[in-house]
Amino acid sequence: MPYLMGLDISTTGAKALIIDGGGAVIAVANTPQPISQPKPLWSEQNPADWWDGISASIRAALAESGLKGADISAIGLTGQMHGLVLLDETGEALRPSILWNDQRTGAQCDEMTERVGARRLIELTGNPAVTGFTAPKILWVRDNEPDVYARARQVLLPKDYIRFKLTDVYATDLAGASGTSLLNVAERAWSAEVMGALEIPAEWMPPAHEGTAITSTISAAGAAATGLQVGTPVVGGGGDQAAGAIGMGCVTPDKIGVTVGTSGVVFAPLSRYAYENEGRLHAFCHAVPDTWHFMGVMLSAAGSLQWYKDTFAAEMDFDALLAEAAEAPAGSEGLFFLPYLTGERSPHPDPLARGAFIGMTSRHSRGHMTRAVLEGVAFGLKDSFTLIAQAGLPDQFEARISGGGAKSPVWQGIIADVLGAPLVNINTTEGGAFGAAILASVAAGLFDDAAAACDAMIQTAEEVAVGADVDLYAERYEIYRSLYPALQATFARL
Ligand code: XUL
Repeated sequence: MPYLMGLDISTTGAKALIIDGGGAVIAVANTPQPISQPKPLWSEQNPADWWDGISASIRAALAESGLKGADISAIGLTGQMHGLVLLDETGEALRPSILWNDQRTGAQCDEMTERVGARRLIELTGNPAVTGFTAPKILWVRDNEPDVYARARQVLLPKDYIRFKLTDVYATDLAGASGTSLLNVAERAWSAEVMGALEIPAEWMPPAHEGTAITSTISAAGAAATGLQVGTPVVGGGGDQAAGAIGMGCVTPDKIGVTVGTSGVVFAPLSRYAYENEGRLHAFCHAVPDTWHFMGVMLSAAGSLQWYKDTFAAEMDFDALLAEAAEAPAGSEGLFFLPYLTGERSPHPDPLARGAFIGMTSRHSRGHMTRAVLEGVAFGLKDSFTLIAQAGLPDQFEARISGGGAKSPVWQGIIADVLGAPLVNINTTEGGAFGAAILASVAAGLFDDAAAACDAMIQTAEEVAVGADVDLYAERYEIYRSLYPALQATFARL
């Protein structure tokens, strides 16, 4: 039986997963990762911590499975996107990695928009300048740490630092590269035009490969640190959203992914490149070769519920809190929640946006407030879903739901009613690491392509039908949509 390994360098943990050729999970090991916020808006991690963490997780997963390194046919990588790892000429990290959720680069985003042109940047890279993306972080180092910038020779994304440590080769994948703002997303190649305009040396970027392509093989040093076998192939893999979509079987335009994690994501595969004119959706290369995807990202989805519970109902468990929400009437009797607790990306790319409860009366109870949070997040997902639908959805599609927040049947029911689309659950919950292992299975020759691998490994489970509240929510959504424009200037003043 062949075995595949998926490695996920997420913001919270370094995870190693082993599956067999049929998609059964054989072992999982996760090493939690520290995160540092040295200043307001800053968010950093130390690449050495990722390496220590993933080495420990690989060893633990091999031990749990009883397998040897030689039993692993191929390895796929995934992880947090956008983070900047800067290396010197010897391959040493020059500073901590600046992460996807770091918001320090507002001025550099303005400079990028000016230098490339707002419209041209969206056309070429599929996205406007976004504070979380990689290119403005490079410019921030140029502006604020010139000594570090002068010694920089190589830019890597977080998971690609692990590829370098495992295989001694600089490489990335096209889905991850799409989150740098430096890729010509239509051509699936680095953009000489954007790098020229920003004066970022082209030789700093690693070769960018398709998700199923073999980029390199485990080196002697990589094997010694992890217990893997020298020569085992490592594939391009994908950024966490693209790999997570593969882990949900969202590899063709008829399968839309809805993920309710800390952030909330609506993911729509595309068979040809398209971008949203105003950049309100991300347009990226998919990790499935020669395909693309739209993606709406709301920054606080289950993160909103977690904040709400920690702040107002710390003593309750989630089940009790959600049971109260289920008792409250749909529409929460006119109470709305805006989920912009950490600013927003889609459809309002605004780091200054704020959360809000709107429409409170003395009739409202905690159950109403909890329900309003669940509904506000569902409306936020609907914003992205609506933009994707305007860009064009196939006549027949299936919306697949995953993520920790999506485990609640109450919340799933609200989301199905707000989107006006039934939701299908799937049989796996391992997300990006599972998707990365699926990409490895194609490179190992087990399947012809990612779609065939997903068909074999992923089964659908319960379906949540659209319920009776769909019309009420359609009406309420129009009110929700009017709230951000009404408050935008106030948020900026706050
Ligand atoms: C995607 C994004 C997040 C990060 C961290 O655009 O910002 O998914 O990759 O998980």
